[in-house]
Amino acid sequence: MAYDFDTPIQRKGSDCIKFDGAAEQGLSPDLLPLWVADMDFRMAPEILAALHSRVDHGIFGYTATLRGYAQAVDAWMHDNYGWLVAPEQIVMTSGVVNALAMAVRAFTRPGDGVIIQQPVYHPFASVVTGNGRVLMNTPLLLDEATSHYHMDFDALEQAAAQPNTKLMLLCNPHNPVGRAWTRPELQRVLDICLANDVIVVSDEIHMDFIRPGHEHVSLGTFGPEVLQRCAICTSASKTFNLAALQCANTVIPNESLRRAFKREISACGCHGPNLLGMAATQAAYEHGAPWLRELKEYLEGNWTLLDDTLRELHERSGVALTLVPAQSTYLAWVDCRGLGMDASELERFIQDEAGLWLDCGHEFGPEGTGFVRINLATQRAFLQRALDQLCDAVYRRLK
Ligand SMILES: Cc1ncc(COP(=O)(O)O)c(C=O)c1O
Repeated sequence: MAYDFDTPIQRKGSDCIKFDGAAEQGLSPDLLPLWVADMDFRMAPEILAALHSRVDHGIFGYTATLRGYAQAVDAWMHDNYGWLVAPEQIVMTSGVVNALAMAVRAFTRPGDGVIIQQPVYHPFASVVTGNGRVLMNTPLLLDEATSHYHMDFDALEQAAAQPNTKLMLLCNPHNPVGRAWTRPELQRVLDICLANDVIVVSDEIHMDFIRPGHEHVSLGTFGPEVLQRCAICTSASKTFNLAALQCANTVIPNESLRRAFKREISACGCHGPNLLGMAATQAAYEHGAPWLRELKEYLEGNWTLLDDTLRELHERSGVALTLVPAQSTYLAWVDCRGLGMDASELERFIQDEAGLWLDCGHEFGPEGTGFVRINLATQRAFLQRALDQLCDAVYRRLK
């Protein structure tokens, strides 16, 4: 491998929330953190070089969109996903969650219904309720025999048909259940939403972490008529570990929706993009592909380690912690209902007995109760240590 993903990098003491946020949350600083979705890997050297060059210039006044920025975004989307992005349709925000909130505010009114599919990344609910809109949850269905999730299209149809429903927030690929939605599934979502005049906002931030044998189908590859009723949120921040640089791109083909979205951004007093975020994003899309290829290979090794560990745990202890088959993301969704604990017992077990800091499933909606999300984007040795602690805690329980 040309890039090093194994050497540990000291994050503790760097003011990152993953390692240094424990005290603020009343947790022990000794817990091994595998929660928030960022990575313990240093960014690609090619991106670091672009940032150094900007920093060395030494002037950080108001910036225009960088020359070549939109072309870099377009080339990435086109070359990887067959999606042609028109530069004028890109609207930058400080992040994808910010874009989701702007979309809720721009495309709906207080009291309108917004569809989500829990369990889902928790800001999907908070940007709806926090803005005084009505949450229309159409939970994903879990096939207990295969641990596969799929959409409940009947529930979706019912929710979309409500007269006050105006928007759907789609997580594609889906965090935390790891589904990469197929074209027929997405077509059905679009058919239902468009028939009921419901706008679809697709959060595609995890698009670059599709696992072997699967593909990312961007909403951007559907026909121009469909795209008139859609917005697609993207960012290089998950893929290249740039979250703190606060830069995301939302593509809104319809001019009047785009205008409404921009109006909301400016009503919130946000103006001008983030220079370092843009520089990093551009460098990532222009030069980051080889690093990403190796990263994904490394992450596959971590998936295998988790899979093997849980299988061995089951064989030796009889306790089934079941890994939901993930098609995308670096976030493992593990069914811990075999432990027979309620949500707070499970959280206590993970923290007090296993010494881990994970995201417990109920944070993603009630349907996630009994599950945990494990962030695999870390050095293999660290993951091994964390999984050893988890298994030891289960064995101790059985003694
Ligand atoms: C589905 C999804 N959307 C958005 C975000 C956060 O994006 P941002 O940091 O750009 O707001 C995450 C982070 O985990 C996520 O999983």
